[in-house]
Amino acid sequence: MEIAKVAFEPMNEVHENEVKILEKLLNKLNEGGDFSKEFDEFFEDVKNHFAFEENLMKKYDFFAYLPHKMEHDKIIQELEELKNKDIKTLKKYFNERFLPWLDNHILTIDTVTAGFFNMINAKV
Ligand SMILES: [Fe+2]
Ligand SMILES: [Fe+2]
Repeated sequence: MEIAKVAFEPMNEVHENEVKILEKLLNKLNEGGDFSKEFDEFFEDVKNHFAFEENLMKKYDFFAYLPHKMEHDKIIQELEELKNKDIKTLKKYFNERFLPWLDNHILTIDTVTAGFFNMINAKV
């Protein structure tokens, strides 16, 4: 799975790691059976990914903190609601909603945020 690169390397590392964990979950969904371990691992990683960006934005007083956080919160809420749903619902969600969302999110607000972190030489 290919994702766009942004101008702040620590964010790329978080994104690449998340894609790996997501691929594990998607493979498990295709295989069938109990996917709760993979789902929990993925959900935990998404929360860490978002918290990482939000903490840095707060630390450096990034002007678009709020709209960026709102995009994250929406996805957290959706994933929360996906818990205990069936495989078909999850597959549909990831293919039709999460993956297009992630591509778009990285290409837009993450790209702007990363550009800012890069410009001010932010430290993790
Ligand atoms: Fe991100
Ligand atoms: Fe983000």
